[in-house]
Amino acid sequence: MAEIAVAAWPAVSSPGAGLESAPSTPRQHCLDLDDYSRAEIEQVLETAAAMQEILARPIKRTPALRGKTVVNCFYEPSTRTRVSFEIAAKNLSADVVTFSSGGSSVEKGESLIDTARTLVALGADVLVMRHHLAGAPYVVARSAGAHVVNAGDGSHAHPTQALLDLYTLRHRLGDLSGKTIGIVGDVLHSRVARSNVHGLTRLGAQVVLCGPATLLPHCSTLPGVTLEHHLDRLLPHLDAVMPLRIQKERASAGLIPSLREYRREYGMTLERLERLPAGAVVLHPGPMNEGVEIDPEVARSARSAIEEQVTNGVAVRMAVLYLLAGGAQ
Ligand code: CP
Repeated sequence: MAEIAVAAWPAVSSPGAGLESAPSTPRQHCLDLDDYSRAEIEQVLETAAAMQEILARPIKRTPALRGKTVVNCFYEPSTRTRVSFEIAAKNLSADVVTFSSGGSSVEKGESLIDTARTLVALGADVLVMRHHLAGAPYVVARSAGAHVVNAGDGSHAHPTQALLDLYTLRHRLGDLSGKTIGIVGDVLHSRVARSNVHGLTRLGAQVVLCGPATLLPHCSTLPGVTLEHHLDRLLPHLDAVMPLRIQKERASAGLIPSLREYRREYGMTLERLERLPAGAVVLHPGPMNEGVEIDPEVARSARSAIEEQVTNGVAVRMAVLYLLAGGAQ
């Protein structure tokens, strides 16, 4: 299957451009944050806070999705997203099935759409889908007859990662209006960066995309988004910094001179941590290449919210599943 055309890097609406209020019809899918209003994002974050209260109880379960079936369809490796969706759905009392393309009829050539329709015929109410091709969850959403949650599609979008990043940032920093968030590294190939740009700008934050020119999009005219090549110049102005994983292939593809050179210019070292203002936070979507984009001492420092991001993923994914398939219907 060829890569499906989706909006190229930028495609970011100006904050508030027709997206201030919640939609009048119930949302069917969570594919990216580009079509989420500010009010709708806040609804997810508030629902996640309520889910976090449930998770603090001795019995971390609510019957909100009893009788529903959530199928996790992962065509690409995942630890955090797959496991946290599974825990989230179980905490909502849904029946949960994990489908891996390996060992399935996908290996006999069954198409994405036929696979999805088969899973729905078997009783799936929600398909949580990770796929290496950008746009794959959109195709399924149009034809499968179930709610679809994009758990990461190619280099396009990863909306629930962005929602858990927003949730974590709000917990650490409060209202994000006027806050400055730096996303550093391989922004061009990052679905996390794209979804975060939508979410952060919608909540009124300023986003600075930082990295070598070879790894940044050409989008300096986006409202609320600027580009910067010098991390050391940027750090004193940030409320949060999010280094992105650098794939080793980027050096062999000539996009960076070497991993060592990359770390020298853009790695979050202890020395660079000191350049951040007091109270600024370090995030990372994971998995990390420690010693490349982030040093282990930084990842485990008091400034780091990286483990908090992972933990918050369960409450945020409970909120997303509940708002699509639960009581709001
Ligand atoms: N952040 C993220 O998507 O991690 P996984 O690939 O482990 O799910």
